[in-house]
Amino acid sequence: MEQAAGEARRIPLHGPDDFEGMRRAGRLAAECLDMIGPHVQPGITTDALDKLCHDFMVERGATPATLGYRGYPKSSCISINHVVCHGIPGDRRLAEGDVLNIDVTPILDGWHGDTSRMYVAGTPSTKARLLLEVTYESLMRGIAVVKPGATLGDIGHAIQSFVEKNRFSVVRDFCGHGIGRTFHAPPNVLHFGRRGEGPVLKEGMFFTIEPMVNAGRPEVKVLDDGWTAVTRDRSMSAQYEHMVGVTATGCEIFTLSPAGLDKPSFAA
Ligand code: MF3
Ligand code: CO
Ligand code: CO
Repeated sequence: MEQAAGEARRIPLHGPDDFEGMRRAGRLAAECLDMIGPHVQPGITTDALDKLCHDFMVERGATPATLGYRGYPKSSCISINHVVCHGIPGDRRLAEGDVLNIDVTPILDGWHGDTSRMYVAGTPSTKARLLLEVTYESLMRGIAVVKPGATLGDIGHAIQSFVEKNRFSVVRDFCGHGIGRTFHAPPNVLHFGRRGEGPVLKEGMFFTIEPMVNAGRPEVKVLDDGWTAVTRDRSMSAQYEHMVGVTATGCEIFTLSPAGLDKPSFAA
């Protein structure tokens, strides 16, 4: 408890102007993910997708936060099939049935807008559909418990219990994070945990929730490029990410799609 209280004190609290800054950055990030959807087709390279995201952000006055971040070389992360997160765009061409996460973080007027969704090149397998639906639903269940007085453990529990009920697993090695004028700030938002544990949420906290869910075992390893995280058992992995601000009664999702494209959807 001592520890949780100490940790909670280090979590920045924000006011109305800050909410407005995050609303604008979050909307731009979501619009970028809306834009990229129709381009995700078999045959396109991940570099071409990254370039489209880069230009979209820059043309709207934003800076891609990932470009040069701790040496990361690209403006998006694109993580295909058994890649869990931080896949580096390159000359890989999408193949029919690939499932991929695209994660973008424009910085607009100093505020970070961080969000990711899953996409499918062509038609997904039945297993892939289920994995994407469960992962998205786990994110939304995590968001649903966010309000002043709830704890970070409540969020982790909501996500983990739903994922495991569906016989998938939650990745332990990566977590959500505080965000705002800084890309990665306190707190760490774990996607597993127990009800009532961890720091207590307060109005004005900003953080991401971004569960990574594996079809097989939860263990991951990072490849020699220093970034690409993959499932150790090479099972498929999925992730969705939203950014929220805690309000007096619940939370505001800053990264909702203006076009309503948040949820997994599959071409017929
Ligand atoms: N956008 C990722 C997140 O959700 C962070 C990517 S950092 C990078 O936290 F350097 F890999 F791009
Ligand atoms: Co994030
Ligand atoms: Co992200």
